[in-house]
Amino acid sequence: MQERPIVAAAPPLSCGSDPGSGTDAPVFHSVRVQPLGRTFKAAPGQPLLRAAEEAGIELPSSCRNGTCRSCLCQRSAGEVRHLIPWPGLSAEEKAEGWLLPCVAEACSDVVLEVPLAFALFDD
Ligand code: FES
Repeated sequence: MQERPIVAAAPPLSCGSDPGSGTDAPVFHSVRVQPLGRTFKAAPGQPLLRAAEEAGIELPSSCRNGTCRSCLCQRSAGEVRHLIPWPGLSAEEKAEGWLLPCVAEACSDVVLEVPLAFALFDD
């Protein structure tokens, strides 16, 4: 019986580090919520919904696992990546900038359009 070479699994895709920086330091991105006009920082791999909540910003949500679409919103700038392979979005919706922040991380600074967002605290 011929032995097969062991092939290492590919590392998970992530937006969390800057390959050109020469370090493994995590890259935090700024996320602006409009029309609320508030900004928060999102850690690598951190769902945008959770990062917003940690900053005292409430976005609509329910299931928090990418299926119910309660958190559906649109980005007007920046790039995001969904953390699950099949979020409840069509390819057309993704192409139009729609995302589910409960299962999406920021890959750059981002602007989200979330009319129902509100802040728990004053700036
Ligand atoms: S909270 Fe259900 S899809 Fe995001």
